[in-house]
Amino acid sequence: MKHIGIITSGGDSPGMNACIRAIVRTASFNDIKVTGFYRGYEGLLENDSLVLTRYDVRNIIHRGGTFLKTSRSEEFRTQAGRSKASKILKNMGIEGLIVIGGDGSLIGANLISIENDIPVIGCPGTIDNDLFGTDFTIGYHTAVDTAIEAVDNIRDTASSHNRLFFVEVMGRDAGLIALRTGIAAGAEGILIPETPSDINRLVKYLKTDFKKKRRSGIIIVAEGESEGGAFEVAKKVQREFPEWEMKVTVLGHIQRGGKPNGFDRILASRIGHGALLALNKGRNREMIGISGGELIYTPLEKAVKHNSTISPYLLELVEALS
Ligand code: F6P
Repeated sequence: MKHIGIITSGGDSPGMNACIRAIVRTASFNDIKVTGFYRGYEGLLENDSLVLTRYDVRNIIHRGGTFLKTSRSEEFRTQAGRSKASKILKNMGIEGLIVIGGDGSLIGANLISIENDIPVIGCPGTIDNDLFGTDFTIGYHTAVDTAIEAVDNIRDTASSHNRLFFVEVMGRDAGLIALRTGIAAGAEGILIPETPSDINRLVKYLKTDFKKKRRSGIIIVAEGESEGGAFEVAKKVQREFPEWEMKVTVLGHIQRGGKPNGFDRILASRIGHGALLALNKGRNREMIGISGGELIYTPLEKAVKHNSTISPYLLELVEALS
């Protein structure tokens, strides 16, 4: 290939910049021109773009967010929108596209490729870690680290005041951020959408073990939890223990920002490098991911099938350690 395009799309995640950098530097190494489009598919539809040289991606590997910016595009969800975007790419002489994003972004990448014969490769960029075909998505580990740090801070004040805190973490309908954060922060309880959460079970635990031995605690609640968010869960538990002081903290977008940790910088660099080589070798409609430490390729239509399989071992760990 002589010329490729890149976009970052959907919710940003720490490490997206490192991935862009790896793609641009690998392209430059192979004499391939790169055009970056701002604001994801929105920017592509408006041809809001710039040519990226290896020097344009200096000093970004450590920065959170995405310097290409991102968005969720309604127009690109339509076939007409995707056809317009493909004409823009073809007129610019762009022979292939790399999309860094989550499931919605990769669904769009698959469709533009099928409908308009544009080669695409997807890079998993989302804090939710809910894509099939990779052990980890870019940004997930950093988001978990950020959440752990916040929960550690909350624990100091929770124990000083003998309070029970319900901390809500992101993840859309996946509980993977909640699970790892809860294990690492030593949470007394973790509620995730993948397992039938039972408030009664939590209440029973609080009435027995917890009431006897502890005076403060942290319950992590995934935002997609079927019992409702942290406020809802806290309300239900408070009814059983009117005398206890309970507080709710929703961590929110703090989990999406911040500099990527070492793991995410290396993961993003490997995935970006692999994505450019894959596209140049003629691979198409695949997401590049990591499994057992090796780069692997999964057809996009499979990768976007919601996946947040929870290892039974981790559930056992939670049960034993909380
Ligand atoms: O998919 C990433 C994510 O941060 C989810 O965890 C969360 O549900 C959603 O995006 C929030 O999206 P927005 O920033 O558009 O409110």
